Amino acid sequence: MGRKFFVGGNWKCNGTTEEVKKIVNTLNDGQVPSQDVVEVVVSPPYVFIPLVKSLLRPDFHVAAQNVWVKKGGAYTGEISAEILVNLEVPWVIIGHSERRLILGESNEVMFFLPYLSFWVVIIVPEKFVGDKVAYALSQGLKVIACVGETLEQREARSTLDVVAAQTKAIADRISNWDDIVLAYEPVWAIGTGKVATPAQAQEVHSELRKWLHTNVSADVAAKTRIIYGGSVNGANSKELAAQPDVDGFLVGGASLKPEFIDIIKAAE
Ligand code: G3H
Repeated sequence: MGRKFFVGGNWKCNGTTEEVKKIVNTLNDGQVPSQDVVEVVVSPPYVFIPLVKSLLRPDFHVAAQNVWVKKGGAYTGEISAEILVNLEVPWVIIGHSERRLILGESNEVMFFLPYLSFWVVIIVPEKFVGDKVAYALSQGLKVIACVGETLEQREARSTLDVVAAQTKAIADRISNWDDIVLAYEPVWAIGTGKVATPAQAQEVHSELRKWLHTNVSADVAAKTRIIYGGSVNGANSKELAAQPDVDGFLVGGASLKPEFIDIIKAAE
């Protein structure tokens, strides 16, 4: 199919200057397959991005962990796509479940309006995550867009409906999928040590690809890389990578450790 394996390391809200230098040294010393075989992107906290860029080997690239939804301006604490482009940051992660669930980013934007003695909830068609993806792409960033169900949603057998709705919220806002990697990250597997089985990951990835085929195009379905995230480590990555629709990983905890190199090697 010709989809190049993709391994992202999401460092989340971790690291000191010394720890960051140590991680980068480990990455720089690692023997990994060539860029023709695997694309590697690491995502430090914003403040460490310039340091990481200055030290990191040239065949690995950096991603931001988030971006503001539209053009920058008076939005205290936010970082815009324009700023990332100016700093030559090529990638950004959007829609991570920690932002959806802890910080309230969703498929929909809800407004609560008073009406007589009631509060009326209005869900506007604007889609926050989809808007972020669209704006980031419009500024020339490449996007790792995350989807995934909670344990309750899996137990209610609504996994496929949930990831389809999350993917639709993005698909509704964009017309070009060339610069998107779709990351399936079941929330119950993130940071829990409870990795999805290869069969569970393959099932959802295959369904997402079918969804893209039906709702976007056969070409986008064939070309879009769908990567898995959730308790990936050096020991389980090879078997997951062998699944036909698993095109790589988004790694959290293990991306801070030397075993990240073993995960990259799963591309071979
Ligand atoms: O972005 C990465 C995912 O949240 C996975 O994190 O590998 O620590 O489970 P984890």
